[in-house]
Amino acid sequence: MSEDRTAHDKERALSNDYLAPLDLNNYHTDKITNGYMNVYGPILAPLRSKPIKLLELGVLGGESLRLWRDYFWNGTIVGLDLRPVTINGPMERIFVYQGAQQDTALLSRIAQERASDGFDIIIDDASHIADLTRISFWHLFDNHLKPSGLYVVEDWGTGYWSDWPDGMTYRSIHSFENVFYPC
Ligand SMILES: C[S@@+](CC[C@H](N)C(=O)[O-])C[C@H]1O[C@@H](n2cnc3c(N)ncnc32)[C@H](O)[C@@H]1O
Repeated sequence: MSEDRTAHDKERALSNDYLAPLDLNNYHTDKITNGYMNVYGPILAPLRSKPIKLLELGVLGGESLRLWRDYFWNGTIVGLDLRPVTINGPMERIFVYQGAQQDTALLSRIAQERASDGFDIIIDDASHIADLTRISFWHLFDNHLKPSGLYVVEDWGTGYWSDWPDGMTYRSIHSFENVFYPC
């Protein structure tokens, strides 16, 4: 993403009424610089005051967990990462686990401990490897997401990067010949 584009997305996110009164400058997550909060804002706004339970797979330095904790002021925020995570500041309403997104036994243990009646929102921002994403998705979607809960897979576009471990350049299966009829 170009620097111009990043600056533009950040500016839009910062001026997004759906996110008020949060100061997004306080959270160092690419959800802001990539402009994802502009997409999340209108979708998640009705849930902001509710006692939701959110699970995020892949949390890096825990900045997105802090953002979700402050965004959902009655929410319980749970994170999982391969690496140890140290949260910057108080852990209030944040719970972090270490392990792999494809470890279905661990995913079930986390759900039993933090959301026994299911998560309201699950976000996969972990490996971005399709096989691992698929394992987490089916396990969590079938067993630990509430009915009408939201399941988000971020950065799916990596699958179209030719230099990504399981990526490949996008090619349409349709040629123009099959799409347009000669007249
Ligand atoms: C893009 S970063 C997460 C950024 C964070 N969600 C945010 O919005 O700021 C991806 C994270 O996924 C973790 N990760 C990669 N593969 C994983 C796996 N198989 N299981 C769990 N976490 C994984 C990495 O350690 C890294 O911290």
